[in-house]
Amino acid sequence: MPVNWSISFDERISPEGLPHAATVDEYKRFHELSVKDYRDFWASVALDLDWFRIWDRVLDDSKPPFYKWFAGGELNASYLCLDRHVKTPRRNKVAIIWEGEPMEDGKPKEVRKFTYYDLYKDVNRMAYLLKNKYNIKKGDVIGLYLPMIPELPMFMLAAARLGATFCVVFSGFSSDAIAERMNDAEAKLIVTTDGAWRAGKMLDLKSIVDTALEKTKTVRSVLVIERTHNKVNMVRGRDEFLSGMMKSAPSNAYVEPEPVKSESPLYVLYTSGTTGKPKGQVHDVGGYMTLLHATMKWVFDIKDSDVYWCMADIGWVTGHSYIVFGPLMEGATEIMYEGSPVFPEQDRWCSIIERYGVSIFYTSPTAIRGWIKGGEQWVKMHDTSTVRLMNSVGEPINPEAFKWLFKLVGRERVPFGSTWWMTETGGIMISHVPGLMMIPMKPGTNGMPIPGIDADVIDEHGNPQKANERGFLVLKKPWPGMPLTIFKDPKRFEEVYYSKFPGIFYAGDYAVKDPDGYFWVLGRADEVIKVAGHRLGTYELESALIRHKAVAESAVVGVPDEIKGEVPVAFVILRQGYAPSEELKNEIKDEVRKQVGPIASLKDVFFASKLPKTRSAKIMRRVVKAVAMGNPPGDTTTLEDEASIEEIKSAYAQLSGDVRNGRG
Ligand code: WT7
Repeated sequence: MPVNWSISFDERISPEGLPHAATVDEYKRFHELSVKDYRDFWASVALDLDWFRIWDRVLDDSKPPFYKWFAGGELNASYLCLDRHVKTPRRNKVAIIWEGEPMEDGKPKEVRKFTYYDLYKDVNRMAYLLKNKYNIKKGDVIGLYLPMIPELPMFMLAAARLGATFCVVFSGFSSDAIAERMNDAEAKLIVTTDGAWRAGKMLDLKSIVDTALEKTKTVRSVLVIERTHNKVNMVRGRDEFLSGMMKSAPSNAYVEPEPVKSESPLYVLYTSGTTGKPKGQVHDVGGYMTLLHATMKWVFDIKDSDVYWCMADIGWVTGHSYIVFGPLMEGATEIMYEGSPVFPEQDRWCSIIERYGVSIFYTSPTAIRGWIKGGEQWVKMHDTSTVRLMNSVGEPINPEAFKWLFKLVGRERVPFGSTWWMTETGGIMISHVPGLMMIPMKPGTNGMPIPGIDADVIDEHGNPQKANERGFLVLKKPWPGMPLTIFKDPKRFEEVYYSKFPGIFYAGDYAVKDPDGYFWVLGRADEVIKVAGHRLGTYELESALIRHKAVAESAVVGVPDEIKGEVPVAFVILRQGYAPSEELKNEIKDEVRKQVGPIASLKDVFFASKLPKTRSAKIMRRVVKAVAMGNPPGDTTTLEDEASIEEIKSAYAQLSGDVRNGRG
């Protein structure tokens, strides 16, 4: 979605009634100070957490870019989210209100509420199981292939309690994707479910795990949570139901939260890119929890009286940080919703806001664009006036989407921001900070780097870019919440993030700073596809394509989509003996969905006789993209380092010819 970032001064919006209104200059002065002494600054934030042992050094930077935040410190994320509250009057406060997707007589069929004490007890029992029945210890990895049910955050907290590392695989991924991730992470156990509800359909996750297990090397056990009571195949000696296993965990089980080093791995979460297999981003405990504490307060202004709802799926980083660890550490009351926000009708999401009186709402541009299409009458049917703060994430928010939600739910006055961050950053980096000091909003902007974060937009040579000129988004200083490394591949970590501009973190996004200093992230600079805000690796899709018997070679690019922002299309060269046909197209599409998962739905498949390549055999993705979009190859030349203008033109002519004359 192209974003118009050249918005005039008059289009700024000043939210009313915010206690901490600030001018841009005031914010900048504060920000400058925080960045100058960023170590001390972050140390002062970290002191809010409960530490079992305080750190020796705020930042161990002896081996850049492998930084250790709060080195020598010891803490436990499960303790911070549970034990700490249980010792206070928050003990009986509702932590999670979970709503299942199925409806009956116009009401949700299942609503489960968990107080902090309920969560504490359940997590302790699960930790007991993991420890005593599955022998999971500090340093072990468990895989979680689960939909949005309360047991998912519980198992994350249970693993964290033991100092074990968890690896969540989004429930829209396929068995191949699970197997690849579990093998890389060397998981011993997978926790899954007998089924999941999504948009009225029941997904059979257990059988997907069964297929994955044909290819895994380290997984010995499968724990199955009964959600739908779908009949599943259980392998004796390997598979157990949670309900059965829980009988062996005493109702008052208590497992000591393991004091873990600040820099020990809390989780591994895989992200995909344009080359190579998915990268396991490893997040630490101390830095990560510190960043989440800061952003829950500054960005979300979280208070005890709030009802907070982050609509993301826990399978992605947004859910890890802003459904599980962030809000629970703050002792918030939050909504967790199982299914589609537009099931059974367009108004499901606003009926949830109304039902529970949601006051803080975290959503995405893709969701908003879908609702716009559904029509505003659905929103008007519900009272959403409890909402006092909103944020969006995942991709640039187009001003139309911003204005629509701002008007209908935001009543043209609540703070509404677009928080920029990525799986790698662990938490929000660029945003408005209404909980700290609120500068005027502009529709579509990301705001400014949060305190302590030294973000900038630079040119190809690493110099600060002029206002309103597109450049690369970078983070110039280490920050708490940054990845420890790429799992088992530190070299790749250095290469991907710290080699383009030595010593500083390259995010892979294009951005501009406007004359007031607001950041506008424009989109990926590296051809990573963002489908509905989720990162989808072209490499993963291309590997899936060539596993189809008819496909010899392939190239995948993203093309704009009205709702999802971007969707993938594929160009394929067929093997000898295969001819292009509608049928084959569909077969190839199905195959990719089967291999990668339902999120990998190819919008189209084009048959080509040749793929445009540079002399060093790299696919000229921008040429492919231009053809896919029906654009002239024109402005792609400067970006295609290795090929001459002539080469690009002829490659373009060749490929668009293929598409036109029916090979496509
Ligand atoms: C990429 C990271 C972090 C949670 C969700 C995505 C894009 C994310 C914004 C925003 C413009 C955004 C960037 C980034 N992105 N938020 N508010 N405005 N772009 O995590 O899958 O790791 O993707 O999402 O391109 O690099 P992710």
